[in-house]
Amino acid sequence: MSRRLTRMIPIFTPVFLLLLLTVFLSGCSTPMGNPVDGQRWYSMHHCFSCHGPNGDDGKGPVVKDLNMSYWRFERIIRDAGSPIMPKYPEEKISDQDVADLYAFLKAK
Ligand code: HEC
Repeated sequence: MSRRLTRMIPIFTPVFLLLLLTVFLSGCSTPMGNPVDGQRWYSMHHCFSCHGPNGDDGKGPVVKDLNMSYWRFERIIRDAGSPIMPKYPEEKISDQDVADLYAFLKAK
């Protein structure tokens, strides 16, 4: 490597690390959900048949006023590991719709 290039490395390393950090953080933040759409998915996918129309009045666990991270919520929607709650792969409920559902149940 030429001496000139070698001297450039300390200048570009912080810039590169900052870029990496930005990409990492944007990938990890909770996606923005729309609670109004979330309400629509909640009834369209029949969540109410187990969790109740209000999220706390069904046979399944209370899902109203959720106290869990978005990532945990998404994992449960995709596969609750339960013989009762259905699995909802991305073809059924997209990532955006999961975010909407999360926003809806958080706001409830
Ligand atoms: C056929 C009934 C059924 C349907 C339909 C259903 N669920 Fe569930 N759900 C359950 C049961 C039962 C559990 C408890 C699973 C366990 O822990 O064994 C559960 C667990 C959950 C949990 C975790 C609650 C907690 O505090 O751990 C969330 C969140 C949830 N459901 C959301 C939804 C959403 C959103 C929908 C609609 C897309 C939905 N469920 C559809 C039965 C259902």
